Amino acid sequence: MSDDVSRHYTRGDLDETLLDALARNGCDTENLKPEDLAPFDEFHVRGHAATSELLDKLEFDTDGHVLDVGSGLGGPSRRLAQMQGCSVTGIDLTLEYCDVAALFAERVGLADRVNYQQANALSMPFDDGSFDGAITQHVAMNIEERPGLYTEIARVLKSGAQFGLYDIFQGQGGDVCYPAPWAETPATSFLVPPDAIAPLLWDAGFEVISQRNTTAQGRAWFQAMRAKTERDGPPPLGIHLLLGPVFKEMAANMVRNLNEDRVALVEIVCRKR
Ligand SMILES: C[S@@+](CC[C@H](N)C(=O)[O-])C[C@H]1O[C@@H](n2cnc3c(N)ncnc32)[C@H](O)[C@@H]1O
Repeated sequence: MSDDVSRHYTRGDLDETLLDALARNGCDTENLKPEDLAPFDEFHVRGHAATSELLDKLEFDTDGHVLDVGSGLGGPSRRLAQMQGCSVTGIDLTLEYCDVAALFAERVGLADRVNYQQANALSMPFDDGSFDGAITQHVAMNIEERPGLYTEIARVLKSGAQFGLYDIFQGQGGDVCYPAPWAETPATSFLVPPDAIAPLLWDAGFEVISQRNTTAQGRAWFQAMRAKTERDGPPPLGIHLLLGPVFKEMAANMVRNLNEDRVALVEIVCRKR
């Protein structure tokens, strides 16, 4: 299962593809700025805006060490290190994403505060109580063993640590249309309804502090993106660079999934009890 998930995300030449696209867009690829990477380094609906809203609800000490579970290309972890001054470890199943995340950390000058390791979120190579906090965004929908995921995150957190999640949930409008950006078929897609999450988190050792449905904001974001593309043409930098030729179909399905309530977007802040 985990091989199928990491195969879905692996391109094989992502570093070259992204650096070429950045250079063609006029960026200095040896000295990158976070805004150069922003069009594609946050692989979730509403990108940077959604991460900022989540991070605004979390507070980590500057000497704190935070975990990003399923860190992707590292946009959220680099933003967290910049916004709050803490250090961040990202783990991800997809080795290529960890390598590209480390490359970008180096080139934006954040390698002293963020690091990336390949690992499965269900079995992380850290001692109990290692971290002062954690975030995860748009990862859980690839993980069947949901109780095991949250129990494992609780295990590596200190007591009282904050944990922020932003994920895709099952909506009430019917079956999800595939291929979707996180899975080509239902075989690697495991959504739960929004009302299942608080009990799951409680059983793993968390108490929910806030839960917010952001599906409407997600729909508006896609609408604005479509209007911009119709006006200006397709952007040179974007998530399409990560997903290859099937991107168009995946994006169209994602819009349909959101507009027809087949999926819901929910942001949650909780604390380890
Ligand atoms: C849609 S991307 C989101 C990446 C990142 N969180 C972000 O928001 O930019 C999903 C990520 O989850 C990772 N992932 C999926 N299942 C995982 C698992 N069991 N353990 C660790 N990472 C996993 C994938 O490799 C991929 O990088």
